[in-house]
Amino acid sequence: MDDVQCFCELIPKIELHAHLNGCIRSSTFRQLLSSPTDQTRLDTLDKEFSVGDTHARMANVFEKFSLLRSCVTNLDDIRRIARETLEDFISDNVIYAELRTRPRSFHNGKIPSSSYIEAILDIMKKYEEKICSRLILSIDRTQTLEQAMETLKLAENYRTHIVGLDFSGDPNIKSFERFRPVFDLAKQINLSTTIHIGELPDKECINENNLIIDYKPTRLGHFNFRTNDQEQRVLKEQIPLELCPTSNLLTMNLLDLTEHHFDLFYKNKHPLAICTDDSGLMNCNLSSELFQVVQTFHLTKKELYEFIFQTSNLIFDKNMIEFCQKKLNIFSQQSNLF
Ligand code: IMP
Ligand code: ZN
Repeated sequence: MDDVQCFCELIPKIELHAHLNGCIRSSTFRQLLSSPTDQTRLDTLDKEFSVGDTHARMANVFEKFSLLRSCVTNLDDIRRIARETLEDFISDNVIYAELRTRPRSFHNGKIPSSSYIEAILDIMKKYEEKICSRLILSIDRTQTLEQAMETLKLAENYRTHIVGLDFSGDPNIKSFERFRPVFDLAKQINLSTTIHIGELPDKECINENNLIIDYKPTRLGHFNFRTNDQEQRVLKEQIPLELCPTSNLLTMNLLDLTEHHFDLFYKNKHPLAICTDDSGLMNCNLSSELFQVVQTFHLTKKELYEFIFQTSNLIFDKNMIEFCQKKLNIFSQQSNLF
């Protein structure tokens, strides 16, 4: 194996943007799909995965998400997904992971969303020795304000392991403005926030970018489509960005990373994290994402190390920064980096 690729695998890594259900192993996804019709639908979606423009690709991804949501039907399913996700991150030498998920209930509310959260937190605690993981709760663009408020309340109730609030879901629905009061409340109680921004090239999406930047969340996800003015504001205000190479390439319809905005922000020494987004659906891991970046933009091992070190400052659980930096220090000493 390439020496640099090996280095990317061995270095302790930090994952800040991973949707729990999007991390599902493809073998597990197939097992959970019970009907042959759904299996066939997944085959077709897989085949058409990287065909068409940004809107068509997004539609494909979101149809997969709805199929996935329909086959995760009980707490055992979500426990399995959480367990396998953490195992996959551990084997990839991820030392700290913030997983995000939209709380949901099962069996017509007989199993409430608090049980969904507790099931995930239980698994996270079981793996604590091997990986430090924290939860971020997602508000979906299609939800009602009331549901979003409930999510905020849940986050408050489990404050030790829930470290933030995310805004995600189908970017065709421009609804940040509607949820702004919930995100304002999050700020008031010092809950960190991360917002998906600039996922589509259309005018409404670009307009929504302004509202999101005005809000000034703790971190931003993607920022694929934006105006020069928006770019300058994010740079000036130093709002950290979570970039997800495989996912971004797919949705932006780019051939390779050379045109990706990593370069621009990296050259400006902007606070950045490289992440996986949906490692199961996108069939990637954090090492391979970092390796792509290193190769495309010719980063040295030392530069990669320094990059991950600066990412550690962006984690929501500030108590764990020292833990991450210590692990990185030990690694650099062992590999004679400096
Ligand atoms: P969950 O919240 O654990 O169920 O993770 C899957 C969900 O994450 C999907 O249903 C989407 O709403 C959201 N998601 C995953 N990837 C993306 C993305 O690239 N943009 C917006 N939302 C996403
Ligand atoms: Zn995402």
